[in-house]
Amino acid sequence: MSHLRNVTCRVCKGSSLTRILSLGEHPPVDNFTDAEHLKDEKRYPLDVYFCGTCNLVQLLDVVAEDELFHGEYAYFSSASKPLVDHFRSYADDLKSEHVAPGDLIVDIGSNDGILLQNFVGTHRVLGIEPSANVAEAARAKGIETESGFFTIEMAKRIIEMHGKAKVISANNVFAHIDDLDEIVQGVKDLLTDDGVFVSESHYLLDLVEHGEFDTVYHEHLCYYSVKPLQHLFGRFGMEVFNVVRMPTHGGSIRVFARKASGLPIENSVHELFALEEKAGLHSLARFADFQKDAEAIKEKLVSLVRQIRREKKKVVAYGAPAKGNTLLNFCGFTQDDIEYVTDTTPYKIGLLTPGSHIPVVSPDILKTETPEYVLLLAWNYRDFILEKEKELRARGAKFIIPIPSVEIV
Ligand code: TYD
Ligand code: ZN
Repeated sequence: MSHLRNVTCRVCKGSSLTRILSLGEHPPVDNFTDAEHLKDEKRYPLDVYFCGTCNLVQLLDVVAEDELFHGEYAYFSSASKPLVDHFRSYADDLKSEHVAPGDLIVDIGSNDGILLQNFVGTHRVLGIEPSANVAEAARAKGIETESGFFTIEMAKRIIEMHGKAKVISANNVFAHIDDLDEIVQGVKDLLTDDGVFVSESHYLLDLVEHGEFDTVYHEHLCYYSVKPLQHLFGRFGMEVFNVVRMPTHGGSIRVFARKASGLPIENSVHELFALEEKAGLHSLARFADFQKDAEAIKEKLVSLVRQIRREKKKVVAYGAPAKGNTLLNFCGFTQDDIEYVTDTTPYKIGLLTPGSHIPVVSPDILKTETPEYVLLLAWNYRDFILEKEKELRARGAKFIIPIPSVEIV
């Protein structure tokens, strides 16, 4: 079975679920394709629900993991330079507070080793990564990497081989998990009694406040906020003790959890909970305009691009991130609208974007060619990219920024 549909909430198991956004049917956003495989492309509903009990925002349609993160995965974290810097400073933060030299750090969904590479030689590291090609990139950096998905069974094996972990991390993957109970139980088993589970995920408050509806895609099963996370960890005798907002991916939260300890919970947790309450995240009414707002962006963007094309001017796109594919497909863009997409990930170059089938090419093309308009799909790197491409802009190319609102710079 390649697609299942849950009927209960992933965190509290309740069934008071209301649909708050429907983006139509989309292929999985990281399944870049080629001419030969177009006929195999499958589409699944992309609908977002709100749980009236624990307030988790989530997808109920679950595409099979092996269809999303199969042997070959297109997302290499280290393709984005700002992300490499982010994970270096993340590692420094962990070193200053939570791990000492010699301690074991386990990273779930370790990708190409972007976090763990900062601990090699001083700490003991173990990556867990189901996608063979990205895991290989991590091993090439000297990072021991287990293949597969993290489970209670895998936690047991790791304890036998390496002992318990002082830190377990899961970054931009904790929201990808359908069976949260399996992961949280496995994490609890694998952690030392004073160990810390730290995860970073895209943050619902940023999603809602900045209209980042394109970050909705099948891999992102959960759109976290503090309240449902407290509920989740509470069920396992664990507690969220610190949360920090991060600028990555258009706004993320770093969440620290531990086994229930009786120690004080940091103020950050109470403060962010209160902010979420005030912003309406604990109430269905806050999401009343979610659909309308997404459609307004779509209409603006589609009419802008079609207008430019009528003037016989060229539009290309910059970056082929997962979220870019949600946006392209929601807008119904094809190669008639957008001639090509540039991306720094070698794996993506030469393939076609899923659904919209626009060729992905190396960013080198923009050294010689000057399209009139460049749609910035990787808008989360806006400042970095506008600065990096100042020469292209000086030659006359204008950037279209789609999110939080359509803007030409
Ligand atoms: P990213 O925003 O990290 O994530 P997601 O796939 O979760 O939406 O992806 C950024 C993509 O943009 C990635 O494929 C690399 C590409 N990219 C460029 O092409 N040029 C750049 O300068 C940067 C920073 C990223
Ligand atoms: Zn719930």
